Amino acid sequence: MIIPSHHVYATYDTLCDAVATYIYTNIRHGLQKTGTFVLGCATGSTPEGVYERLVQTISKDKPDLSGLSTVNLDEYFPIQRTDPQSYYQFMMKRLWEPLADLSLGFVPDRQADIPRGDAPDPVAECARYEARIRALGGVDLQLLGIGVNGHVGFNEPGSPTDSRTRLVDLTESTIRANSRFYQGDKTKVPRQAITMGIGTILDARELLILASGKNKAPILDKLAALPHAIPDIPASALVGHPHISFFLDQDAAHSV
Ligand code: PGA
Repeated sequence: MIIPSHHVYATYDTLCDAVATYIYTNIRHGLQKTGTFVLGCATGSTPEGVYERLVQTISKDKPDLSGLSTVNLDEYFPIQRTDPQSYYQFMMKRLWEPLADLSLGFVPDRQADIPRGDAPDPVAECARYEARIRALGGVDLQLLGIGVNGHVGFNEPGSPTDSRTRLVDLTESTIRANSRFYQGDKTKVPRQAITMGIGTILDARELLILASGKNKAPILDKLAALPHAIPDIPASALVGHPHISFFLDQDAAHSV
């Protein structure tokens, strides 16, 4: 598949600088034009540096953030919001609290949402989450990482293109990859997650896929070599989105 719009940076740091600038420009533009902006956030190692720089830029420029909302791709299930490994805590530490601390009108309780890993009824939680995204008017810009197995969010290989937010089982490959956050102990990694579906992600007005490091080169090579989208590589379903860009560092880009 032709990887439509892709930008390659020499290092992870320069990649993060470029992505943060790109996101910030979009947020500013959206807020100026319509008064609101919905940023779809991703967790994982790749976006960490992006959030750090985004907060730095915002702290210098001091825009009014009362019209900004964020939603997240996914959350482990079950997990408590107080668990340091929860994506709720990841977002609180890296983006929501730092933004709230700037006193620019961003109130996490009101403006930031993420699936509840502690929901007593996960099916109802998935429906609530879809409704919330709709009520916000949809996602303006969705950030995404890509798993070494081609997953996006926690849409593992085989995920239907029209899938919506739902409870899913994680694959062995993902559990292994994420055990690095659990001192390498696979048994500690939650086995399920609530994730936006591929269909939910495709509804966003713009998609931005980030990848860094040599371990992502094989899946990006595979994606580029595919004749068409296949459920075995969930990211391939996104390539036909009318407004998708790949932001890569040199190590990940390889032959893209
Ligand atoms: P990573 O995760 O940024 O930690 O590599 C990406 C993903 O698995 O979606």
